Amino acid sequence: MTATPFVFTAWASAYQQRIEQVLEHTLPASDTLPQRLHSAMRYAVLGGGKRVRALLAYAAAEFTGATAMHADTAAAAVELIHAFSLVHDDMPCMDNDDLRRGKPSCHKAYDDATALLVGDALQSLAFECLTHAPTSHAVQQIQLLAQATGSRGMCGGQSIDLQSTGQTLSVDALATMHQYKTGALIGAATLLGAYAANQPTDAQLQALGYFSERMGLAFQVVDDILDSTTDTQTLGKTAGKDSAQAKSTYVTLLGLDAARQLVQQLHQDTLTRLAPFGETAVALRGLATFICERPF
Ligand code: IPE
Ligand code: IPE
Ligand code: MG
Ligand code: MG
Ligand code: MG
Repeated sequence: MTATPFVFTAWASAYQQRIEQVLEHTLPASDTLPQRLHSAMRYAVLGGGKRVRALLAYAAAEFTGATAMHADTAAAAVELIHAFSLVHDDMPCMDNDDLRRGKPSCHKAYDDATALLVGDALQSLAFECLTHAPTSHAVQQIQLLAQATGSRGMCGGQSIDLQSTGQTLSVDALATMHQYKTGALIGAATLLGAYAANQPTDAQLQALGYFSERMGLAFQVVDDILDSTTDTQTLGKTAGKDSAQAKSTYVTLLGLDAARQLVQQLHQDTLTRLAPFGETAVALRGLATFICERPF
């Protein structure tokens, strides 16, 4: 019997549908009190987004021999934290963006105070969700996600981003900011998936660390590139925001060609590092390619 060839788009689409269902059931119904907050939480989370962080959790679970069922809570938790970060990122006190995932951002569809509370409540829900993880590693998952979300992770990166607006950062400082604001959560998504059921081996953890570091950076460099090269309709968020708001990005510091070359290098290095793992890493390699070559 010949093995079915791996088709990334089919794999991703199946897991995108799966995580939508998991999130649908994890979020409180919009007719439960307080209806406005629950409706806004569902608005911010459901029916949009590439779900890259959930896919990372599922791919890392496959890498370590766990089932999708084991990884559902990890995948949902990272998507909830991510949605919280987007809701706050779009608020007038941060990037002041009116469009997200092709529709009015949460504070526009509702109001600033509701958007603030949506972020808070999504964060709490993410951690509550992990307490239901069907694994003896739940505490470890909670710790990993807390570190990646807090002041030495996503929130810290957002703080550096806001503080450095209007300044020209060094390339090293920019890499650090990207690792904090985006890389940390990409890394957590991967590790939470890796701990979905089994204890990962040292070799697996080292490979996942290598993968996360490069793909975390690549993800934000591509986001910077797309901001300057792609239109608002394709992106589903306002294009050209980075230069309009005088943000340091890889495009402004290195130029478009060098930024693209960096992504190619990170992509190739990651594929090479995962090659010895063969079929077990096929989804992770597919995701590396998607992260580096995505059109939006
Ligand atoms: C956008 O993330 C914010 C960044 C960290 C660059 P995504 O590009 O993953 O956004 P969605 O989830 O697909 O909308
Ligand atoms: C945001 O980076 C990263 C987050 C932690 C949300 P950006 O501000 O570049 O994200 P977009 O471009 O608005 O999605
Ligand atoms: Mg921002
Ligand atoms: Mg933004
Ligand atoms: Mg951006």
